[in-house]
Amino acid sequence: MKDDISVPFLDLITPHKEKEEELTKVFRGAILTGRFIGGSMVQGFENAFASFCETEHCIGVGSGTDALRFALIAAGVKERDIVITVPNTFIATTEDITQAGALPRFVDIEESSFNMDPERLREYIETQCTVDEEAGMPTNLGTGRRVAAVVPVHLYGHGADMDAILDIAAKYNLIVVEDACQAHGAKYFSQKKAFGNKLDQWAMLRHLASILEKIWAPAVRLVR
Ligand SMILES: Cc1ncc(COP(=O)(O)O)c(C=O)c1O
Repeated sequence: MKDDISVPFLDLITPHKEKEEELTKVFRGAILTGRFIGGSMVQGFENAFASFCETEHCIGVGSGTDALRFALIAAGVKERDIVITVPNTFIATTEDITQAGALPRFVDIEESSFNMDPERLREYIETQCTVDEEAGMPTNLGTGRRVAAVVPVHLYGHGADMDAILDIAAKYNLIVVEDACQAHGAKYFSQKKAFGNKLDQWAMLRHLASILEKIWAPAVRLVR
């Protein structure tokens, strides 16, 4: 056996080679119509991705980072709030929380999925926070800051334990924004749409800039 094979840490050429023709056609279409922002190509993509995700709506934005930041702000995360997430993720998850003006706090992951451990989330709220009886929202005992939201990450295509996370979020009135940037098409108990089957409202935002680059790119789900 040859023992001098070198495997590149990040290979962005091979996966694009097989799509070269398809991608070039799309690039050409964009160049020839001059519709670089919005327009029918984007709308077509939004519709196709919504249907792929078995949901009604999809909104294209500039990047997965933008999608997460917009979702946090739109859902009501304010400056000085605390947003709980996991350390085992891409930097953008945490960066988005700080860009929204909030403070990230980490809870540990489960060994089985490498995603947020709902018991650690519960433990954080029950041991490090006090819960305002009237608002029903937790406040961190150390900083006095409101805990406003939780961002579970569905890493490497594996869904986090959303039923348990949503139960805790509902109990403490937490906003839930799911970082699905690495989980397009992933299923939770055989359903794509129901990463948490108790969702009453959700939105998916798309990483638009990478349509041509990655085909399926970051998506975020917002739960309230
Ligand atoms: C888990 C996770 N969240 C967020 C992002 C941010 O996406 P983007 O690089 O499109 O801003 C990524 C990107 O790879 C990611 O893996």
